[in-house]
Amino acid sequence: MSTNNDFKPGLEGVVAVETEIAEPDREGGVLRYRGIDIEQLVGHYPYENVWGLLVDDDLSVKMPDPEPYEPAGLTGNAPADLQAETARLAGEWKLGKLNEISDEQAREDLGRLSAQMMEIVARSAAKADGREPAADDVVARGETAAERFLLRWRGEADPRHVKAIDTYWICTAEHGLNASTFTARIIASTGADTGAAMSGAVGALSGPLHGGAPARVLPMLDEVARTNDPERYVRDLLDRHERIMGFGHRVYRAEDPRARLLRRTAKELGSPRFEVAEELERVALAALREHKPDRPLETNVEFWSAVVLDVAEIPHDLTPAMFACARVAGWSAHILEEKRTGRLIRPSAQYVGPGERPASAVDGAPVPS
Ligand code: COA
Repeated sequence: MSTNNDFKPGLEGVVAVETEIAEPDREGGVLRYRGIDIEQLVGHYPYENVWGLLVDDDLSVKMPDPEPYEPAGLTGNAPADLQAETARLAGEWKLGKLNEISDEQAREDLGRLSAQMMEIVARSAAKADGREPAADDVVARGETAAERFLLRWRGEADPRHVKAIDTYWICTAEHGLNASTFTARIIASTGADTGAAMSGAVGALSGPLHGGAPARVLPMLDEVARTNDPERYVRDLLDRHERIMGFGHRVYRAEDPRARLLRRTAKELGSPRFEVAEELERVALAALREHKPDRPLETNVEFWSAVVLDVAEIPHDLTPAMFACARVAGWSAHILEEKRTGRLIRPSAQYVGPGERPASAVDGAPVPS
């Protein structure tokens, strides 16, 4: 049996693609979209222009407005609705295969999809609340994508909620070759349509180790607020060999710059959970340093995302779908970049199973008559 010593569990540190879009800077604690520090974007450009920066390298281009479309079968479970409806759009809109359409056509399809994916989440959230999504004339009053999202969902858009969502979406719009983006690129590399690539990416980020952690942060904050004993809470978690949600990162060995920006936003917006979160963060970082002295485990984006999304009164179970709304920009940019390479992604596996043997040696094989 041949062995390959290059095998890296979880592909950690393996360079799988070249990108001009973004890649977190491991030691520097800075995140740049096409060379622009996200600190220069938040509060200066709304999310839809950041979409233009990531997809077209042009801050004057905006993600388009969603076109009229009423998804047929929403359940109110936003991540599942988003994944299913995005795949269905490929059929509804007769999207072409990436290897058969031009780059311009793919770019247009991705714009339509990105805008519609936000609509699907807003409509699904309204359904979960048991209300009708707002009518088009109400939504048209919104000036930004975040405002229109809230108007569609709730029929109203508190400016603090708009700011919380816009900041969160910008901070999480793109982050290099994470699991969902890699998934999108793998699907795109097969020449599938953009709907397939985007819906596959939604599935990849619904797990707690990638996009679902904010949903688990607020219950931690609730528990710490109730007991007023963060030291004990953290110690008990680590004694049970559980992970503290919102800490640690596969790439960063310094503070996640998005956590820094979102912490500041949570404070500016007067989050009622700010003090508990800050105290839990202080205690958790100290405990993690003691627990794993050789592996820097810092606050990641999801800890402060949870607090900022809470300001906008986003229910816990909607957080993976909110993350997906943000990531439509990064996924679109990567799908286009992958299309331009024209190369199928097909890594190898190292076979470590049994050597050649007869079928009769397999458990449960019928005894030959
Ligand atoms: N709390 C406690 N211990 C942690 C930890 C956390 N949040 N994150 C990592 N560790 C520990 C692991 O238990 C592991 O210890 P071990 O070697 O004794 O088994 C060690 O640190 C290395 O962890 P590993 O899972 O190999 O790191 P990774 O690079 O694969 O993990 C994450 C990155 C994000 C998946 C991981 O830090 C994590 O699970 N964090 C909590 C979930 C979270 O916040 N997800 C959102 C990510 S943006």
